[in-house]
Amino acid sequence: MGQLKKLFPETINKFIEPFVGGGSVFLNTKANEYLVNDIDTNVINLHKTLSKFDIDTLLNELSKIVHNYGLSFSFKGITVPDNLKRQYIKTYYAKYNKLAYEKLRKDFNNDKNNILYLYILLIYGFNRIIRFNSKGNFNLPVGNVDFNINVYNALKNYISFMQKNKIHFENNDYINFINKIHFENNDYVYLDPPYLISNSEYNKFWNISNEIALYKLLDELNLKNIKFGITNLIHHKGQTNKILKNWSQKYKIFNINSNYISFNDNTIKTDSKEIFVTNYNGVFYG
Ligand SMILES: C[S@@+](CC[C@H](N)C(=O)[O-])C[C@H]1O[C@@H](n2cnc3c(N)ncnc32)[C@H](O)[C@@H]1O
Repeated sequence: MGQLKKLFPETINKFIEPFVGGGSVFLNTKANEYLVNDIDTNVINLHKTLSKFDIDTLLNELSKIVHNYGLSFSFKGITVPDNLKRQYIKTYYAKYNKLAYEKLRKDFNNDKNNILYLYILLIYGFNRIIRFNSKGNFNLPVGNVDFNINVYNALKNYISFMQKNKIHFENNDYINFINKIHFENNDYVYLDPPYLISNSEYNKFWNISNEIALYKLLDELNLKNIKFGITNLIHHKGQTNKILKNWSQKYKIFNINSNYISFNDNTIKTDSKEIFVTNYNGVFYG
């Protein structure tokens, strides 16, 4: 975000994010209002559900779930017994929470309307990501993490942002989402699409024709003088995204240093190269 922020326009009216995911970008960007979208219904349900709470009520509701299932809760001082910590030096949270987590996952999969269950699964799950199998069941194993002070602070900042700002969430394909927008002066579209050349969970429905359609849409926005900025992976594990490479030549290209992390392998990929492409002039501090 530190690198990206310097490349965003100084004044933003509507911040428009068609591939919002967890929201780390809009949550760290100043704008008059926010229109954010994702095709993943669970992701948008999580945002819509969490953002309705005040922090105390939310913590209360989440605490009930954590207590009912008997998960560790370092934020409240309920942690793993010392003997387990000594026995499993690096994996004691996972060892302690495994059975309770699996029971919670089973209960969530039986009734997927309980989005707070999904949030707790995310917090205690492997790599803190969302993954559903082909039958539509959440299927991540327990992670070696729990609800700690960092989770609480992130949640508190999130809720505070939601209370102070005007945010509209949508669950749609990005093309339908963008086509419905009434664009005004200083509106800005930031895109972090699935990456064609990596194999993250959210890339499974993304292919070459999606990639081509995306750049066609951005060219159309450009013709309408709508400002956009897009981040994407240009090199990864010996592959190059040639469609991106060719298309980006007509715009401004910035290198982004990122520690790209794949969903099933959390070791850092040093050969990955990410770029940011924009169609606007501005004061770039980067
Ligand atoms: C690279 S991730 C975005 C990550 C985000 N910047 C964050 O901070 O979490 C790409 C996102 O695009 C979403 N996505 C994939 N195909 C889509 C489509 N056709 N329309 C809208 N969203 C889509 C995925 O569900 C995923 O959340």
